[in-house]
Amino acid sequence: MEQEKSVLELASGLARAAGKIQRERYATRLKIRTKSAAVDLVTDVDETCEALIVSTLETERPGDTILAEEGGERNQSGATWRWIIDPLDGTTNYAHGYPRFCVSIGVEFEGARTVGVVYDPLMDELYHAVVGRGAFLNGRPIRVSEETALDRSLLATGFAYDRRKSEQDNLDNFAAFLKAARALRRDGSAALDLCYVAAGRLDGFWEFKLAPWDVAAGYLIVEEAGGRCSDLSGGAPPASGSAVVASNGRIHQAMLEVLKSVP
Ligand code: IPD
Ligand code: CA
Ligand code: CA
Repeated sequence: MEQEKSVLELASGLARAAGKIQRERYATRLKIRTKSAAVDLVTDVDETCEALIVSTLETERPGDTILAEEGGERNQSGATWRWIIDPLDGTTNYAHGYPRFCVSIGVEFEGARTVGVVYDPLMDELYHAVVGRGAFLNGRPIRVSEETALDRSLLATGFAYDRRKSEQDNLDNFAAFLKAARALRRDGSAALDLCYVAAGRLDGFWEFKLAPWDVAAGYLIVEEAGGRCSDLSGGAPPASGSAVVASNGRIHQAMLEVLKSVP
């Protein structure tokens, strides 16, 4: 569809433009504030990137609805397109100069995930997918891994910002997968974790209490790369990001069983 092409081009351009700001400001002095918890950070770069993306969309796509993490929202009644934006996924890493973060832009058409773009500015890696057209890294097709055994799998996860207060802190699941898998990673950017599953660099990923902007692009990129995303019981992956299991498909059931075995 012609419209999908122009949405993809705009999303890719915006992700690259925001990523350029992140690259230029990387490891410089930042203004850092906290949000929902003392460990939940936002920097001036998150805000600058979101302002750039949202203001461009307001000019270029005035009829579309926007949901953006730092509050740059716009609801348009009757809109068919909806942009879901994480201007900087991996803010804790960014604030510490740890080189793993990205821009994530997912776009829905009539409520269905249609275009996904994730850009890692330091690696200069742009992941994209359009529904039904496959997933790509810097223009080359990507596929999930072929690993069939959980005990030979490399997995990633993350821990929610309410972990100091909530007993649902993912630690028991982490312990269970630590025994069951080959190795685990916690690398601080859920959107990139999903892209790594899509590219076959990770075999699987799980996390709880994510947000729509963490998963809007990544779900589509994983699925278009031949992988599977679901909730804890194997049903459709929640758009809210409340519980996410993503894998190459081959180890998915084994991952669900480990999660089910944890009280
Ligand atoms: C966070 C990252 C992290 C995940 C958190 C997210 P942010 O996003 O994706 O990996 O564990 O749950 O909130 O705050 O850096 O955009
Ligand atoms: Ca995020
Ligand atoms: Ca963010």
